[in-house]
Amino acid sequence: MAAPVRTGDEVELSVDSLAYGGNGVGRLNGFVVFVRGGLPGDRVRARVTKVKRGFAEGVSLAVLEPSPHRVEAPCRHFGVCGGCRFQDLAYDEQLAAKEQQVRDALVRIGRISEPPLEPIVPATSLYRYRNKLEYSFARTEAGVDLGFHRAGRWDEVIGVDECLLASELGNRVRLAVRDWAREEQLEPYDQATGEGYLRHLVYREGRATGQVLVTLVTAPGERFETGYFVDVLRRFPEVRSIHWAVNDTPAERTNLPTRLLFGEEAIEEEILGLRFRLRPGAFLQTNTEMAERLYELTCEVAGLTGREQVFDLYCGTGTIALALAGAASEVWGVEISEEAVACAIENAARNGIANARFVAGNVGQVLEELVERAGTPDVVVVDPPRAGLAGKALRRTGALRAARIVYVSCNPTTLASDIRVLREEYGYELVRCRPLDMFPHTPHVESVSALELRADVGG
Ligand SMILES: C[S@@+](CC[C@H](N)C(=O)[O-])C[C@H]1O[C@@H](n2cnc3c(N)ncnc32)[C@H](O)[C@@H]1O
Repeated sequence: MAAPVRTGDEVELSVDSLAYGGNGVGRLNGFVVFVRGGLPGDRVRARVTKVKRGFAEGVSLAVLEPSPHRVEAPCRHFGVCGGCRFQDLAYDEQLAAKEQQVRDALVRIGRISEPPLEPIVPATSLYRYRNKLEYSFARTEAGVDLGFHRAGRWDEVIGVDECLLASELGNRVRLAVRDWAREEQLEPYDQATGEGYLRHLVYREGRATGQVLVTLVTAPGERFETGYFVDVLRRFPEVRSIHWAVNDTPAERTNLPTRLLFGEEAIEEEILGLRFRLRPGAFLQTNTEMAERLYELTCEVAGLTGREQVFDLYCGTGTIALALAGAASEVWGVEISEEAVACAIENAARNGIANARFVAGNVGQVLEELVERAGTPDVVVVDPPRAGLAGKALRRTGALRAARIVYVSCNPTTLASDIRVLREEYGYELVRCRPLDMFPHTPHVESVSALELRADVGG
């Protein structure tokens, strides 16, 4: 269909649904227009910003008739802060939209006409659910401030008085560090000029243990009195570990080496009764409550009897492997980050789990060698990054011919395209898929799927 619009046009349209990624979907005589800022049920005036072959993109300029699903956003920074996009959409509608996105992906990309989709698992807490927040320092009218990027801008940071996704303690710690920066007259780092000093504050909280780890990230040089910084944070007894990292490049970097300024090297979080060590750079799901639901669901979908050989691919710090170990004969985790593998091994020992082993490596490259060491798996769990089972990983995983693959996904589009290959080329059938909302008010949606090797192709 020829596009009925051109870039720069202003159009009026009704928004029917939310596409994956969070833009509203409207139609002009059947031609799809993705509208940033449009919610399902809205009639909006939008400006077209891009026209492609089969669709256009635009941005909402005015809501002409608001959706009946619109609600008051409780956060005072809503709309300005880039953090939460859907606080103004009723939570039931957020859930319905996310469930629909997973269904659409399985139908359109996965080519499954009637996917075995189960109802989405809602989040237990709609606010204050994050166990990790990364704030940027910036200069605002109020002075040095700490906050998040302005919505739609990578080069501008807004100060935040209260973040409703952080715990109350997390908010108090951030304000204490902001006040310290003002008192010490330290300048925020400016990425454009390379001047200034303070870059980020990373706050991590073991939500089940109450332990807090704080990492200050600065430009090079020791321009603050470390002892006083520690004193400021030690007013909070929960703060058990204080680190300092230096980023000497203009680019944002994660996993920087850190210097311990106070306390223990790591804190702990507890998930499903297991203790996990949290070092500054170690990955852990950022919503503890929902990580428990995710891992419970993964265990249920894996359906282990105690006799299985299990591979946990993309295992991070070993959370899924350790959650499954009690119900398996043996679990092998594979993970590219050596630091995460070291944490996984430590976590296994900390929890007295002897039948979980971990190897560092790229899933696409180490699977054949792992099979030689460990034998063929009965069940394979995969929890890849957003890009899915990229490159050789998909083919090598399919070629394992495990009776069951449990696919934990944070991106329904790559999930669906991987499932399509596993169905069409490796003889797997999708038997269940259950979406899960770990991040209310954001476009993210997780899911856990089970694929089974069809009897006619199984060994
Ligand atoms: C979504 S996280 C899952 C972590 C873990 N399952 C959890 O729930 O905490 C994905 C993990 O895959 C790892 N990773 C990314 N690419 C990889 C690759 N090619 N091979 C192995 N691991 C990889 C990342 O380092 C990250 O720890």
